[in-house]
Amino acid sequence: MAEQPLLSVENLTVQFRGDAGWVNAVEGVDFAVGAGECLGIVGESGSGKSVSALSILKLHSPANTRYASGAIRYGDRDLLTLPQRRLRQVRGGEIAMIFQDPMSSLNPVLTIADQIMEPLRQHQGLSVQAARRKAIELLDMVRISDASRRIDDYPHRLSGGMRQRVMIAIAVACRPRLLIADEPTTALDVTIQSQILELLRELQREIGMSVILITHDLGVVAEFAQRVVVMYAGRVVETASVPALFERPMHPYTEGLIRAVPNLDEDVHRLTTIPGSIPDPSMSITGCRFSPRCREAVQSCLEKPPSLVDAGAGHLARCPPRIAAGGIS
Ligand SMILES: Nc1ncnc2c1ncn2[C@@H]1O[C@H](COP(=O)(O)OP(=O)(O)OP(=O)(O)O)[C@@H](O)[C@H]1O
Ligand code: SF4
Ligand SMILES: [Mg+2]
Repeated sequence: MAEQPLLSVENLTVQFRGDAGWVNAVEGVDFAVGAGECLGIVGESGSGKSVSALSILKLHSPANTRYASGAIRYGDRDLLTLPQRRLRQVRGGEIAMIFQDPMSSLNPVLTIADQIMEPLRQHQGLSVQAARRKAIELLDMVRISDASRRIDDYPHRLSGGMRQRVMIAIAVACRPRLLIADEPTTALDVTIQSQILELLRELQREIGMSVILITHDLGVVAEFAQRVVVMYAGRVVETASVPALFERPMHPYTEGLIRAVPNLDEDVHRLTTIPGSIPDPSMSITGCRFSPRCREAVQSCLEKPPSLVDAGAGHLARCPPRIAAGGIS
């Protein structure tokens, strides 16, 4: 990404209130997304993908969340310190978000029309008639057939795939500059998943927006993203362009994730998972947080937390032994 990024997350540390005090859910997270780019964020469950994404729009409950360090740079603004009123203008207008489960994000007592018209009225000041016309256009755009009739349905009348299309229509209603899609297809069956991802790609091109695509599926990243951030236990452990990450993963965790992607060309029995599980954020680990699961761990890995090092051409990894060996295990 040569030019100035559209948005950059810098040294973000987010804490939640736990029984024994504040706990870092994510720590020192850095990543950036360029204009028109699709950035993938991957990692196993609990790695900090959603916590990072929700922080971009400060969507965590203020009562038990602390942004202990960092900045979210967006143009000349820092979204973490932006006054609520200005942050509300950015949310849904310039930066929109879609979630894994559209049923919990759509309001069951409001019609689709009410829910798509709301951002158009709020951010673009459209009249009721103009917002309704625009809402029907948007439903057509996300390929909901018979849009002028369906618009008056309540969410429960739609299938899972259609609800996710409605969520996408709401998210892109104001032609955002950035769409954050947090596991947008996980709840859907495989055929619908690829239709929704294809739709997102078309909309991205048409609107010229950037996308942060969060997924635990590296196959999806390979197909849709240009660059990727790999997260583990609340930290970024590797970031690279998609071709570089697949050709030469630098972090043993990334390698494990790549080995876990089913490869249709090869014998499916080769599919492996990484033994062990992600440590709980409250667990204290002095050195590398991946060390309990890492077959390559050496003494120095256990002594101090590894830093994220540039191995060249913007390929960063948090594994000093690997980088010293030129990325080879
Ligand atoms: N509101 C919260 N209060 C306390 N801890 C939280 C909260 N939200 C997330 N966490 C913790 O922060 C860590 C990161 O969670 P996060 O939801 O970001 O994971 P994720 O990578 O999005 O996983 P998944 O793939 O399951 O969605 C986890 O240990 C989780 O338990
Ligand atoms: S720093 Fe050490 S323990 Fe951590 S991933 Fe690299 S080799 Fe494994
Ligand atoms: Mg999540």
